[in-house]
Amino acid sequence: MDSILVTGNGPLNGRIPIAGAKNACLTLMPATLLSDEPLTLTNAPRLSDIRTMTTLLQSLGAEVTTLQDGQVLAMSSHDLNNHTADYDIVRKMRASILVLGPMLARDGHAVVSLPGGCAIGARPVDLHLKALEAMGAELDLRDGYVHAKASGGLKGGKVEFPFVSVGATENAVMAATLAKGTTVITNAAREPEIVDLVQCLRKMGAQIEGEGAGTITIQGVDRLHGATHPVVTDRIELGTYMLAPAICGGEVELLGGRLDLVGAFCEKLDAAGIDVTETRDGLTVKRRGDRVQAVDVVTEPFPGFPTDLQAQMMALLCTAEGTSVLEEKIFENRFMHAPELIRMGASIDVHGGTATVTGVDRLKGAPVMATDLRASVSLILAGLAAEGETVVSRVYHLDRGYEHVVRKLEAVGARIERISNQ
Ligand code: EPZ
Repeated sequence: MDSILVTGNGPLNGRIPIAGAKNACLTLMPATLLSDEPLTLTNAPRLSDIRTMTTLLQSLGAEVTTLQDGQVLAMSSHDLNNHTADYDIVRKMRASILVLGPMLARDGHAVVSLPGGCAIGARPVDLHLKALEAMGAELDLRDGYVHAKASGGLKGGKVEFPFVSVGATENAVMAATLAKGTTVITNAAREPEIVDLVQCLRKMGAQIEGEGAGTITIQGVDRLHGATHPVVTDRIELGTYMLAPAICGGEVELLGGRLDLVGAFCEKLDAAGIDVTETRDGLTVKRRGDRVQAVDVVTEPFPGFPTDLQAQMMALLCTAEGTSVLEEKIFENRFMHAPELIRMGASIDVHGGTATVTGVDRLKGAPVMATDLRASVSLILAGLAAEGETVVSRVYHLDRGYEHVVRKLEAVGARIERISNQ
């Protein structure tokens, strides 16, 4: 398993290109199952999760060809010859559950392994299943698989989510595009990745209104046609790299960055003493003084502060002047980066879903271990600002969500390298 060696090296200056969004691509790819015509995605990120989703779609009989070094995904599910998504693939990536709605909508039957939990929480899929049942699906859970049927096809229905779920909203929207009649989804997730999915489905001929607001209405159609669609910019990669000049000093331009994707996050950066300026090519970030100020953070569904930036923000606040309180309200176990940051000299007190961080003048480099995707990059950010060397192990977590992280940070002056521990 590879490690990454980071050595604190002062301010960062230059430009970092931001890739297409992992979490948009992982729902856009299953959308190919809704049509027997080709769906091509451009601006796709080069990540191991995308390769896992490619393998899953190919196991169902879809064709997925990667072009232009992986930035273009040409897909066609003209001939689906398998309607079972195996545990072997699904256990590697929970987003695999997103093939359930499209397969059911298109062919009236699907067997998908339950994804199981992951490091950050139990992550059940009950809301996905309830949404499909509201559209007439008959579901039978056995042997760790969901056996789903919709004899005569799905029917439009009322999907009322008790709380916001990104994935369940995505599954419901995709399933509803081919259901007979109208589906109304209330308390729908508003994430930009869902807006991106709807824009792609609309290009395929779907009739959908209300994306980005709390209620989405879908008028089912008989079939969807092919399309070409660019994956939206990755707001989590964007926010992650915005924190690099914030924690190290210097001035970095994030190419492709869009302010509308990181509104709540930028409000917190401003309160902490970080300037974010829109440029012709993206966003430029610069710390106002020598040290950021403490701020309190509560994670919420979009447009609130994203849970996927909580770990990275904690790394910044470990070096702030004053005490910050971070509340993680989306997942039940998303502070696993805290003990690793404490190894680097951070002062963090975790009680349940609340972490109290008292800033220290300087973190100290240390060997630390990545536990999940966003924790891994939080440790790299801390290492960039720490005194001395930090070795982050188990960086396979990082490869799931960040393409070329070493190259992108080296380009702005970071001392960082990947070590292969064969
Ligand atoms: C998506 O996961 C993202 N993943 C996550 O990003 C992100 O953290 C999360 O949304 C929240 O924004 C992808 O898009 C592939 P949820 P998802 O359903 O859809 C509970 C990353 O780092 N819940 O909005 O699984 C769930 O346990 C990843 O890129 C149920 O109880 O998230 C969680 O506590 C991590 N029942 C809360 O709801 C359900 O049926 C929100 O989950 C579904 C979810």
